[in-house]
Amino acid sequence: MRQMVMVGFLQAQNCTNLVSSWRHPDSRTDSTSADYYQTIGRVLEEGKFHVGFFDDRLAMPDRYGNDHRHTVEHGIRCVKMDPLTVVTVMGMATKRLGLGATRSTTYYEPFDVARTFSTLDLMTNGRAAWNVVTSMNDGEALNMGREEHLEHDTRYDRADEFMRVVLGHWNSWDDGAIIQDKKAGIFADPDKVRRLDHVGDWFRSRGPFTVPRSPQGHPVIIQAGQSGRGKLFSARWGELVFVSTPTSLEHGRQTYRELKDEAARLGRDPSQMTITPSAYVVAAETKAEAEDKMALIETLATDEDALSLLSEAMNFDFASKGLDEPFTDDELDNISGTQSMRDRVLRASGLRNPTPRDFITYSHRARPNKPFVGGPKEVADGLEEWFSTGVCDGFVIAATHVPGTYMDFVRHVVPELQRRGLYHKDYKGATLRENLGLPMPGAGA
Ligand SMILES: Cc1cc2nc3c(=O)[nH]c(=O)nc-3n(C[C@H](O)[C@H](O)[C@H](O)COP(=O)(O)O)c2cc1C
Repeated sequence: MRQMVMVGFLQAQNCTNLVSSWRHPDSRTDSTSADYYQTIGRVLEEGKFHVGFFDDRLAMPDRYGNDHRHTVEHGIRCVKMDPLTVVTVMGMATKRLGLGATRSTTYYEPFDVARTFSTLDLMTNGRAAWNVVTSMNDGEALNMGREEHLEHDTRYDRADEFMRVVLGHWNSWDDGAIIQDKKAGIFADPDKVRRLDHVGDWFRSRGPFTVPRSPQGHPVIIQAGQSGRGKLFSARWGELVFVSTPTSLEHGRQTYRELKDEAARLGRDPSQMTITPSAYVVAAETKAEAEDKMALIETLATDEDALSLLSEAMNFDFASKGLDEPFTDDELDNISGTQSMRDRVLRASGLRNPTPRDFITYSHRARPNKPFVGGPKEVADGLEEWFSTGVCDGFVIAATHVPGTYMDFVRHVVPELQRRGLYHKDYKGATLRENLGLPMPGAGA
């Protein structure tokens, strides 16, 4: 029977996806400690989550009013630690949980990314995954030695070549290359290690690569492009594909089909691409208790949180407009950050020229978007509907606070999903690929 894939949507920062989470009475205040992340990892593993995944951003959200004071003062993701270090720390406290982290193709060298993730994969016995992103805004460019962020589609063209270099290096060691015959003095078989000699439009990388293959071959590829160009990239490379919370079930089904069809068109087996939308879950023992929890969470968010995050994601200063001043066609056409957020607001509002206030309302930025709120039955019913009607293969569960959201999910929702046969009772294998049902990738490909 087909079963759900579950991913925890994590951040190496002072808040969860929900910026206001740090103000939640049950939020821990030690988000810069190892114990904080190891506790979350243990909770996820107790609930048999397939992956704990850390997002990343290479700048504070200071695009709003071009100022970081409000960001720091109100804790709007002002802390952003390196996700690879943090996910490694989580890996040391867990045994089966997959470990995902984000690295941008725009600001790192492919050799460096290939080596870092292969190392994580070896250190965690084949549990690593790389979320491939192209980054979003000028703040990241300015921190990483560039004047401005690359144009949207160019970022993806460049990322395609980046992937060829990374996968080329990962596949340049054959499985079983290491022999370690001390008597004969042979460490590894030189016929099983090749040079890449890549010379392309954007990158040069010679090799040979310096990290052998892991028990799962190489890390799993995660991708979350939502624009036309982004989805094409996802369909080409993504093994675990994240999508935004759909605006309707119909919209979710359409995105799902588009991605799977595109993967098939590119010659891939669509069943080897797991599609998971992000979803907030507020669960408790009863529906009434969950609704009380949700009511508390709703009091924590502010409009400033939303405007700051919108400015960051869309690379546009929302403080440059009045709250009720419509965006011009020109402004909408020239959004250089996340275009899919603009498109989602246009679609959900039905407006041609939305105002900043409309963006706050319809983007759900800084507020839980379509949360599943309820006791075990209500939440499991909701997740089951999405899963069994062609919207998804699983979920990226976003937290309103940590570790509370995941503790509630593991206690109240997981047993109900398992009872229905919709979710595994234990990990099937040792590596992330085994647990996702993905084949071992070929070497020398
Ligand atoms: C669940 C999820 C997680 C994401 N994590 C990151 C991240 O960590 N860093 C980042 O820069 N973008 C992240 N993104 C954004 C995507 O990589 C992508 O840029 C965005 O969905 C817009 O699509 P587009 O690039 O095709 O316009 C995430 C998106 C989703 C849906």
